[in-house]
Amino acid sequence: MEVSDLAPQPHRTNERYEAVFASNRDIFEGARVLDLASHDGRFSFAALKTGAAHVTGVEVRQSLIDKAEETFAFYGQDPETYRFVCGDLFEVLARESFDVDVVLCLGYLYHTYRHTELMYRLHHLEPKHLIVDTMVTADAEQDLRVIGEPNAKDIRSASQDDWSVGRVLVLRPSVPAVQMLMHAYGFEIESMYDWQGRLAGRPVEAGLKGYARGERATVRCRFRKEIIQEAWDPVVALPGVASPPAPPRAGGARNEPDPAPAPPAGGWRERVNRVLARATGYELHRAGTGAGGGQA
Ligand SMILES: C[S@@+](CC[C@H](N)C(=O)[O-])C[C@H]1O[C@@H](n2cnc3c(N)ncnc32)[C@H](O)[C@@H]1O
Repeated sequence: MEVSDLAPQPHRTNERYEAVFASNRDIFEGARVLDLASHDGRFSFAALKTGAAHVTGVEVRQSLIDKAEETFAFYGQDPETYRFVCGDLFEVLARESFDVDVVLCLGYLYHTYRHTELMYRLHHLEPKHLIVDTMVTADAEQDLRVIGEPNAKDIRSASQDDWSVGRVLVLRPSVPAVQMLMHAYGFEIESMYDWQGRLAGRPVEAGLKGYARGERATVRCRFRKEIIQEAWDPVVALPGVASPPAPPRAGGARNEPDPAPAPPAGGWRERVNRVLARATGYELHRAGTGAGGGQA
């Protein structure tokens, strides 16, 4: 976690709102939403304001749930439209079943080592969509990097669980690893938010730098149970290193904005491929469909 994450960052939160909600309005209308690691409920609230019919937030820290409930009451939110469950999300997902259309996994995938367990649970919930917002490594392979959580007591960090002795270990995925993880549990990436295009040409505040550098990604996935039966021809390598830092421009001032890249053209798969290719040096390719296949 970056220290700057602790300070209030309305701009960062608004930009994340754009990436997660405003860009995906079509899936929130009337939806039942499960917000994993819901923190102080800000994105649970955003889900309702984007048209969701009901949201369940799961959060391990009671003080954050108290804050969420206080906020929802302050804004007069109908108590029938939300519920917060306090607990370790692995325990909650193991003991409760949720009837949900959209699962939000925002700011959590890099706070755990237990990705397969998480995805197993999500697979069995069979939501229509899953939105993941996560820190990623720049690796162009399907890698998970082991990291010692800097401070597991911090309210934005992983909670200690029965498998941790002192320091909590977490795994940070590369984008190809996220792709593979999703695919293995029946989710396919429908789109990846074009953070670099969005932030290009604008001064970027500290909390958004990770997105601007390609160190965080936001992906929208849809559930198709049958894809776990399909052959996984993981990715086609393109030349280049994943998410290279922008080269210094000759004579350019350090904070001078980069020109905005041209918007990608083509069908949705082609657009996803281009954004993934730009972020990772790789592109989506599934056996039989060919990279850049037609409209879904
Ligand atoms: C980085 S914050 C992300 C909060 C919010 N979803 C967002 O994207 O801004 C991580 C959150 O996960 C919660 N958390 C960590 N481990 C958890 C667990 N095992 N079960 C439930 N919540 C957990 C933390 O308390 C914290 O609120």
